[in-house]
Amino acid sequence: MTNRAYNFNAGPAALPLEVLQQAQQEFIDYAGAGMSIMEMSHRSSIFEQVNDGAQSLLRELFGIPSNYKVLFLQGGASTQFAMIPMNLLGAGQTAAFVNTGSWADKAIKEAKLFGETAIVASSESDKFNRIPDLSNLQLPTNSAYLHITSNETIEGTQFAAYPETGNVTLIGDMSSDILSRPVDVSKFGMIYAGAQKNLGPSGVTIVIVREDLVSESPKSIPTMLRYDTHVKNNSLYNTPPSFSVYLVGLMLKWVKERGGVAAMEQFNRDKTKLIYDTIDNSGGFYRGFADANSRSLMNLTFRLGSEELEKQFVKESEQQGFVGLKGHRSVGGLRASTYNAVPLESCKALADFMGDFQKRNG
Ligand SMILES: Cc1ncc(COP(=O)(O)O)c(C=O)c1O
Repeated sequence: MTNRAYNFNAGPAALPLEVLQQAQQEFIDYAGAGMSIMEMSHRSSIFEQVNDGAQSLLRELFGIPSNYKVLFLQGGASTQFAMIPMNLLGAGQTAAFVNTGSWADKAIKEAKLFGETAIVASSESDKFNRIPDLSNLQLPTNSAYLHITSNETIEGTQFAAYPETGNVTLIGDMSSDILSRPVDVSKFGMIYAGAQKNLGPSGVTIVIVREDLVSESPKSIPTMLRYDTHVKNNSLYNTPPSFSVYLVGLMLKWVKERGGVAAMEQFNRDKTKLIYDTIDNSGGFYRGFADANSRSLMNLTFRLGSEELEKQFVKESEQQGFVGLKGHRSVGGLRASTYNAVPLESCKALADFMGDFQKRNG
C-alpha cells in the first residue's frame, strides 16, 4: 500500500489500514449476500448481526456492565448536547458542568435552552489550559447530573481521573478519547461519543447509558430525540447509518486483535511520549499548551515562538506528507491528534520532523 499520509487529523481521523482493506474486500459483496452493506435492508438478519456484533464487542472491550444499554444514534455528539437535558433534566433541577473548554462550552450553551445550569468548576481564567481541580467539588443539591468533557479536543487537555459525584449522575462526553484507555463505566450514568475519532467513521454516535435513566423519556419530546425510542428498538427505530455501524464493528475487532483497551492505552502513551519529549526537550522552541498533568494522550497542542513560524511549520510539514497539524481555528497554534488508529511510525516521523525543523529554525 502506497501513499498513506501521516494523518494527524482531529476528526474525521485516521483509520487503521487493515480496517480499510477489510472494508474494501467486503465492499461489493458482504458475506456472500451479493450486495454491499449499504445496499441491504437494515431489517435483514445480516445487518442485525452487524449491529448486535458491534454492540457486544464494545461491551466486551469497554467492560460495560449488563445494566447499561449501548445505542448507535445519529446527529453527532452535538445532538447529545441537547438530547441529554431534554431527557434527563427535570423541572426544578440543575444541570451541572465542568467547563474545560470549547466542547464543554457548547454542551453548556445547549443545556441552557432547556433549564438551569451551573458551572461548578472552570479553567477559563487560564484559557482552558488545564483540567480544573475537582477535589472540593460542590454540586447543587438539585443537580440532575454533572457533565464533563473527558478530553477537550481543541485545547488538548484530558481528565487524568474522574470526579466523585456521590448520588449525582456523572455524564461524560468521550468523543475524543473513548476506547483510548480503560474506564470504570459504572462510575458514569452515561457516556457518549461521536465515532469519527477513535471508533470509526463519522455518521454514528455511541451512547452508553444506565438503563434506569432511559426507561421512560418525557412524553413531550419528539420520538427521535427520546432515548427510550432507541432503547426499545435496539437502535433500529428508523434507518440507521448502517455502513458507519459496520465500520465501527471492524474498528472494534481491530482493537481486540491488538490486545484491547489497556493495550491501546500503552500504545497511545508510547506514541505521545515521542512528541511530548520532543516538546519538553526543545529548550522552549516548542511550548506545550496544556499543563503537564492535564495533557491529552489524544490531541497534542503546542506553539512556536511566532505565528509566522507556525505557518512555516504547517507548510513544510504538508510538503513532507503530514496532514492535520494546524491548530483549531479558534485557538491557533499546532495540534497533532494521535487517536488509536494513528501508527507509531507517524509519531516517530513527526518527532523527527520537529527535531529537524528546530535545527533549521532554532
Ligand atoms: C469532545 C467533543 N465533543 C463533541 C464534538 C462534536 O461532535 P459531532 O461533530 O459528532 O457533533 C466533538 C467534535 O469534534 C468533540 O471533539
